[in-house]
Amino acid sequence: MTVKTGIIFITLALGCLTTPTPNSEDLSQFSNHEEQEATTVKVSPNNRLVGASSARSGAHPWVVAMTTGSTVRSFTCAGSIISQRTVLTAAHCIDSLYRDGALPSSLRLSVGSDRWNSTADQYLVSGNATHPNYVSQITKNDIAMLFTYTDIVFSRRVRPIAIGYEFIGAGVKTRVAGWGRTGAGAPNPSRLLQIDLTTIDGERCERDVAEANEKWPNMRLPHTESHIELCTFHSRGRGTCNGDSGGPLVRVSSGKQVGIVSWGFPCALGAPDVFVRLSAFQSWIEKNIDECEYEYDE
Ligand SMILES: *[C@@H]1O[C@H](CO)[C@@H](O)[C@H](O)[C@H]1NC(C)=O
Ligand SMILES: *[C@@H]1O[C@H](CO)[C@@H](O)[C@H](O)[C@H]1NC(C)=O
Repeated sequence: MTVKTGIIFITLALGCLTTPTPNSEDLSQFSNHEEQEATTVKVSPNNRLVGASSARSGAHPWVVAMTTGSTVRSFTCAGSIISQRTVLTAAHCIDSLYRDGALPSSLRLSVGSDRWNSTADQYLVSGNATHPNYVSQITKNDIAMLFTYTDIVFSRRVRPIAIGYEFIGAGVKTRVAGWGRTGAGAPNPSRLLQIDLTTIDGERCERDVAEANEKWPNMRLPHTESHIELCTFHSRGRGTCNGDSGGPLVRVSSGKQVGIVSWGFPCALGAPDVFVRLSAFQSWIEKNIDECEYEYDE
């Protein structure tokens, strides 16, 4: 590393680390930080990333595990590698870890393993970029990036995923991989699981989520906004769960990432699962990858 890149690096780190805001109450986002703080992540007897099967080893080389803790490590969320230094995740995943205006120093991003607790290939985080319109109370614009201090070393087991910015309608076959819980109060599975889910129409999602909110009013979950969120539905007992947050929703036909696991009715209760719709965030994603990465390549 030359002196020049060293100076540039510092500039960028500052550019990516600004203005913290206080944490707010968590809703039923599928993050997994109930160990760290007594939040209101709801669990239900049917709480499973259900119907999931083991992912073939190395089948998801872009999947990242966010973990914290010095002696005992805890799993927080998933993410996806989208460039040499950028990991895409859900804003609420970062928000849940933020304390006193900073990310915890024990935060690590693990890549290249099907085990979330693997310490083989870990990266330190220099900062985050959270969407400026992220609204924690209703989990909207739930998109953020984490930047690694050093370049992620790509290999057969570690590589970025391309983003598909086409608009996703109903009936699109997608796949989610994650370490989300497989049962109420169960630990996170140590190995990566995956499940195939089909997207549903935005209007149907808004309607089904409104119905689910009537059925389970005490979950106090938000409404959906189909222009910025996309939904899948498999069947009662199959879907995403706590710990899957931040992970990529991948279109099977293209292998491109089209969504980020955001929130839902925990878990797999027969209501849709809700994802950030990446096509709605193209300019923000491109702007932030560039801003925080451009000069690393000089
Ligand atoms: C990083 O995340 C925190 C917590 O959500 C947020 O307050 C802050 O604005 C984010 N930083 C940037 C630069 O987006
Ligand atoms: C990871 O977790 C598994 C069980 O979940 C445990 O057997 C293993 O020892 C852990 N590995 C590390 C490096 O902590």
